[in-house]
Amino acid sequence: MKLSDNKATLSFSNGSPSVELPVYQGSIGPDVVDIRKLYAQTGMFTYDPGFMSTAATQSGITYIDGDKGELLYRGYPIEQLATNCDFLETCHLLLYGNLPNTAQKADFTKRVTMHTMVNEQMQFFLRGFRRDAHPMAIMTGLVGALSAFYHDSTDITNAEHRDISAIRLIAKMPTLVAMAYKYSVGQPFVYPKNDLSYAGNFLRMMFANPCEEYKVNPVIERAMDRIFTLHADHEQNASTSTVRLCGSSGTNPFAAIAAGVACLWGPSHGGANEAALNMLEDIQKMGGVAKVGEFIDKVKDKNSGVKLMGFGHRVYKNYDPRAKLMQETCKEVLNELGLHNDPLFKLAMQLEKIALEDDYFVQRKLYPNVDFYSGIVQRAIGIPVSMFTAIFALARTVGWIAQLNEMIGDPEYKIGRPRQLFTGSVKRDVQPLAKR
Ligand code: CMC
Repeated sequence: MKLSDNKATLSFSNGSPSVELPVYQGSIGPDVVDIRKLYAQTGMFTYDPGFMSTAATQSGITYIDGDKGELLYRGYPIEQLATNCDFLETCHLLLYGNLPNTAQKADFTKRVTMHTMVNEQMQFFLRGFRRDAHPMAIMTGLVGALSAFYHDSTDITNAEHRDISAIRLIAKMPTLVAMAYKYSVGQPFVYPKNDLSYAGNFLRMMFANPCEEYKVNPVIERAMDRIFTLHADHEQNASTSTVRLCGSSGTNPFAAIAAGVACLWGPSHGGANEAALNMLEDIQKMGGVAKVGEFIDKVKDKNSGVKLMGFGHRVYKNYDPRAKLMQETCKEVLNELGLHNDPLFKLAMQLEKIALEDDYFVQRKLYPNVDFYSGIVQRAIGIPVSMFTAIFALARTVGWIAQLNEMIGDPEYKIGRPRQLFTGSVKRDVQPLAKR
């Protein structure tokens, strides 16, 4: 970051002396006011619940321009990455800062592929869960448990340990997600097959069974790969910030990523794709396209408590670029599977059309986000709704690790320790039990 000529002055109405605060510039995006010495200079903290105006870190990984609807991984637009690169190239980019050349790609792919199997003991651990456990409950447990199996890559201060744990996590997440699924449907686990692509291998582990050969469909494989790429990173969102905060204590990478999985589980974050698909199914049950107008009226009625799921975003105040790519993939997958007349897709298109023309949505800058179409794609592929967030976690793992490693490598890195505005009781004395 670069010190700006601009400076901020903070003055007080009670006559306390004003303080001058440095301003820093990034390569793009808003400047920041540096308040690190504020407490020492004034005895005051800043107050910003929800981090509405606080940059918790500097980062060179992902940039979002919410007004333009732009998403860049290491400077590359998501549209170019989604159409010209595969997920493992994107992983290399996020982790190491550059797109791999042919030799680097082959080497990286080989390293990831050689780590896809999980310790055999993991399946006994998994078998301790109820069959009807939510896949995210299982994933939170399994990812944290990796630290009990891979003791040679748990030292976060060791760059080699960090690299090997990154490769292990990227390689093993598809295996663990597929195992969680197989367990829930009572089928045998399918071991990874290393001559398949990352996405192809995942599809096979999900849908193959020992009784018949599974042939990977290239259109579905590309769609899966694109879902992974579009979800790979998204700057300092709740789960990424959780991973950073958790990792800032020096805990091992598997434990820090497990914290990210737990955070992603929530319906305001990774759980929204599940909610968007459930909403479409509900409207379909109510009467489908004919009921869209009625549903939109309900969404606009503030007393109804109904939201158009898959619409709106904290950062994007324009069309989420990932939603456009997902819509394209959605059409490809439905055509390939002969589902071009899929009623849910038609319903989604109609909802989108009406919402984009409606003043309520236009004035509030509410546009479709990535979750609006990703559920339809996953459902068409045969993935049950309850697995959607686990697949999001699989894809986001690389972003979490890249952000964690960036933090550990930052010379300004410190344990994260927010402060508070205390509003509880002032000091008081404990009374004997009989007098309380
Ligand atoms: N349907 C109807 N009204 C909405 C919606 C929606 N989906 N989203 C926002 N609004 C309204 C909101 O009621 C408010 O109206 P008013 O100004 O009259 O009070 C206005 O738009 C601004 O909304 P906000 O809640 O202040 O915006 P936010 O930035 O705090 O919330 C959001 C962002 C994503 C939580 C919200 O848009 C939402 O709940 N969307 C539906 C859930 C969803 O699709 N989430 C997925 C996000 S993308 C996945 C990811 O990147 O993790």
